[in-house]
Amino acid sequence: MIKKDVLGIRDMSKEDLIEILDTAKEMKKIIEGEKISDILKGKTIITIFFEPSTRTRLSFEMAAKYLGAHFGNIETKTSSVVKGESLIDTVRTVERMKADVIITRHNMSGAPHLMAKYLNASIINAGDGLNEHPTQALLDLMTIGEKKESFKGLKVVIIGDIVHSRVARSNMWGLLKLGAEVRLAGPATLLPKTFEKLGVKVYYDINKAINGVDVVMGLRIQLERQKSGLFPSKDEFVRYFGITSERMRLAKKDAILMHPGPINRNVEISSEAANSGYSVIEEQVTNGVAVRMALLKLLCERRKNNENNY
Ligand code: CP
Repeated sequence: MIKKDVLGIRDMSKEDLIEILDTAKEMKKIIEGEKISDILKGKTIITIFFEPSTRTRLSFEMAAKYLGAHFGNIETKTSSVVKGESLIDTVRTVERMKADVIITRHNMSGAPHLMAKYLNASIINAGDGLNEHPTQALLDLMTIGEKKESFKGLKVVIIGDIVHSRVARSNMWGLLKLGAEVRLAGPATLLPKTFEKLGVKVYYDINKAINGVDVVMGLRIQLERQKSGLFPSKDEFVRYFGITSERMRLAKKDAILMHPGPINRNVEISSEAANSGYSVIEEQVTNGVAVRMALLKLLCERRKNNENNY
C-alpha cells in the first residue's frame, strides 16, 4: 500500500508503482465515460502551487472533480503568502479547513517533504526544485505501458537539460525500478557523467543515444538558464541535441516520442516531430488526469484504513 504522502518515485517500491498504474487504468475508464463518480465523496482536495503550471494543476483539479471531491485552489500570487506568511503556517491553515490531500509545487527541493512532516493531511509533490516530479513520471510510465508490452529491457532515452530536470530524475527512478534500460543524452554542461553511478548510460552524441531505442523522451530546455552560459547558443543546441523526425528514424520503427510539456517548439523538439506519428504527447496529458485520480483514490483509501492515525 502506498505511503501517507507521495513525495517521490525514488522512495516508492516496484509494487507501489504497479498498484498506481493498475488503478490509473481503471480511472481512465471514468474519464472516457461519464466523467463522474462518488469515489471521493466528502473528501477535500486543495492545490497550492508556488510555481507556474498548466497541466499538473488543472489535471489535479479535474481528477478531484471527476471523483466527486470538494476542491479548492490557492493562487499564491494573491494569497497571504505575499504578506510573508510562512510555508508551514500557510499549509496548516489549509489543513484546518479539513483538507484530506494537499498538492503542492515549490521551487525549493524538499518543500513538500517539510510540509508532510508537519501535517496530517496527505501531501502530493507536484514538482519540487530540481528534485522530483513524481506524478509526471507516473503518467509517462502509464503512457509507455499502454504502447509497449513490457518495461523489462525496454530502451528509453531522455534527452536535453538533464541536470535541471526533476522530470528526468523521477522517470529515471521509475524506469529503472520497472526494469528498463535508461540512456541520458545532452551537452556535458547539462549532463554530468556522475549520473552513470545511478545505473544509467550517459551519451553526448544524440544520434548514438537514439539508435535502436523504443522510447524517446525530450525535456524542456530552460531558456532562462541560457544566460548562465550552460550551452553556447540556442541554435547550437538545436543542431546537436534537437529531436527531429530524421533523428527519430534512428530509433526502432515503432518508437514513441514523449515530452512532458510545455514544449519549446523547434528548440528541444521540432514542430514536425512533435506533430508526427511518433508523438504521444497529447495522450500523456490525458493519462495525467488518470494517474492523479488513482493517487487521490489510493491516498484516501489509505487514510480511511488508518483513520485512528490521522
Ligand atoms: N509537465 C508539467 O509539469 O507541466 P506544467 O508545468 O504545465 O504543469
